[in-house]
Amino acid sequence: MRYLTVALTKGRLAKKTLELFEQVGVTCQEMQDPDSRKLIFVNEELGMRFFLAKGPDVPTYVEYGAADIGIVGKDTILEEGRSMYEVLDLGFGKCRMCVCGPASAKELLKHQDLIRVATKYPNIAKDYFYNKKHQTVEIIKLSGSIELAPIVGLSEVIVDIVETGSTLRENGLEVLEEIVPLSARMVVNQVSMKMEQERIGNLIRDLRNVL
Ligand code: PRP
Repeated sequence: MRYLTVALTKGRLAKKTLELFEQVGVTCQEMQDPDSRKLIFVNEELGMRFFLAKGPDVPTYVEYGAADIGIVGKDTILEEGRSMYEVLDLGFGKCRMCVCGPASAKELLKHQDLIRVATKYPNIAKDYFYNKKHQTVEIIKLSGSIELAPIVGLSEVIVDIVETGSTLRENGLEVLEEIVPLSARMVVNQVSMKMEQERIGNLIRDLRNVL
């Protein structure tokens, strides 16, 4: 039997995913060792392999078929735009992609002002401003702590993930517009979906039953 390979997003999502998989009998003992430097973990009995990757790399592994299945946030799926099937909303990692800024920036979103938008998600920001709002903006790509941008005057607004809203509140910013709700999703390689229809189909069905 060929291994079914699963790419997990490193961090909180991986932890939640393993808890969920455990509920349907998909476990990986090898992965529990926090001191391990191993990159890939095998469950011989199930014929499955698991590895951890940075979020934006998960869709890459899945599109190329290096992983049959991936667990990744909807934000990353939208940003990366890879060809793969999104098959299941896992319901955790819930948050929202929003346009945020100081309350004073609200007016700038109503008119066709040429404003600057800082974000870790340039494709999502581009799609929202150009295709949905028809507002020409300058998009500035950042790698983290996006909330800093409007505070120090790099941009008027940001496009970023809001979970509890506390980062915004503590920095005098607010949600100005909501773009899309987000959560963790299961994605599947398009060829694997056909070749491993039974095993992948069973996993999806079992997960759906416990969700
Ligand atoms: C994310 C996001 C916000 C924050 C939102 O950042 O970019 O900054 O979490 O969460 P909250 O609404 O609960 O405050 P993350 O901590 O992942 O780090 P980053 O700023 O480096 O992207």
